[in-house]
Amino acid sequence: MNTLDGYNQPLSTQEDVELTHVARGTPCGEYLRRFWHPIALTEELAGVPLPLRVLGEDLVLFRDKRGELGLLFRHCAHRGTSLEFGIVSERGLRCCYHGWLYDVDGRILETPAQPDNPVRRNACQGAYPTLEYSGLIFAYLGPQDERPTFPIYDSWSATSDTELVPFKLSYACNWLQIHENTADPMHIPFLHGRVSGVQFTPGFSELPLLSFANTPLGIVVNSTRYAEGRLWMRAADVIFPNVAQYPPAFETGEEERLLLGAWATRWVVPSDTTRSWVIGFRHFNTRLDPHGQGNREEIGLEKVDFSGQTPAAPEDRQRSPGDYEAMIGQGPIAIHANEHLLSSDRGVARLRKLLRQQVSSLQAGNTPELPRVYSEQPVPTYTYEALAPAPLPKDPASFQRIGDQTLDLLIESATETSSSRGEWLQRKIGELIRCL
Ligand code: FES
Ligand SMILES: [Fe+2]
Repeated sequence: MNTLDGYNQPLSTQEDVELTHVARGTPCGEYLRRFWHPIALTEELAGVPLPLRVLGEDLVLFRDKRGELGLLFRHCAHRGTSLEFGIVSERGLRCCYHGWLYDVDGRILETPAQPDNPVRRNACQGAYPTLEYSGLIFAYLGPQDERPTFPIYDSWSATSDTELVPFKLSYACNWLQIHENTADPMHIPFLHGRVSGVQFTPGFSELPLLSFANTPLGIVVNSTRYAEGRLWMRAADVIFPNVAQYPPAFETGEEERLLLGAWATRWVVPSDTTRSWVIGFRHFNTRLDPHGQGNREEIGLEKVDFSGQTPAAPEDRQRSPGDYEAMIGQGPIAIHANEHLLSSDRGVARLRKLLRQQVSSLQAGNTPELPRVYSEQPVPTYTYEALAPAPLPKDPASFQRIGDQTLDLLIESATETSSSRGEWLQRKIGELIRCL
């Protein structure tokens, strides 16, 4: 170790291209193109086309006067002017420059300066399929014969009163460092407590013991804490390729509860290699938020009622930085070759390893292994929180074991019916705690 010798300190500029680059033809760009991604809030479409850059492609999203959504290459197939200046028509979008009219699927409907021509019959504007779900617009940018079905996660209908409130946040950095944040729960007691000051509730400052397990969808990440006679376990979903779900961030760690279901679902969608969106749903129901702490008014375009996800106020950003500052602070693309990972970073290492397997498997000519065709039934997910009175675990090993065994039970519980799953889990985890 040579201190004060920055001159000789190795510093790589080598990006982890395989996992971070997202353009068409790159390994990860091709992998991500095998899934549906949210790209806009329904409320962003207000009568005029919306220019968007998605996975490095310049596109334009619009809703024609029939109500049909279209997602087209941004530059007109005639002489290339931007269709963000196009006029929304009864059917499709008309280019401002020479009036070509495009249908929502890219078909050329009119070339008014020369109505009868072979180009109109043989060419078309690049277009991608879209779908709309609960206030978010999703797109699929991959090959048509590999288009997956759209997954409906069980957390979206956890109770009959569950409401999904959409949000979209912009980040000036690579998608992966944002996604990795969920697989790195050891940042929580520091960034959201001991270092930056309490950003959620004081209970989060307690150091957790971490457990990780693979699920049929990706990874489940569990943090186990013990405080004031209670065991507190929180498990978040990391779903491939770019989805995550969390239990409530308002939890104080003081009230007893057992909750299967997510408080938020979010995708990290690359706009390009150095810009991303965090797009998702905040979930509302009386079970998740018995004290009514969520605030729908603070959720939407560039806002969410969840501390630290958007840029801090200028006077706070260096005194109480949040997730946003920490992730942007890793640079436009985090350079993995310069990191020094510890065992507490094993969730990040696991995520990268699985992602690399998926990406290289596709490169080898296989279809991505994780499910891409979903049944009509809601897809079981694993986000979970338990707060239960318990004796102080005898030693760190039994403390660790209860976290690990809880994850095993969570995964096993997915074979139960959705109505019996919560009860089954409550009983099994109760038995685990009694054996402490
Ligand atoms: S450039 Fe679009 S119609 Fe000519
Ligand atoms: Fe965080």
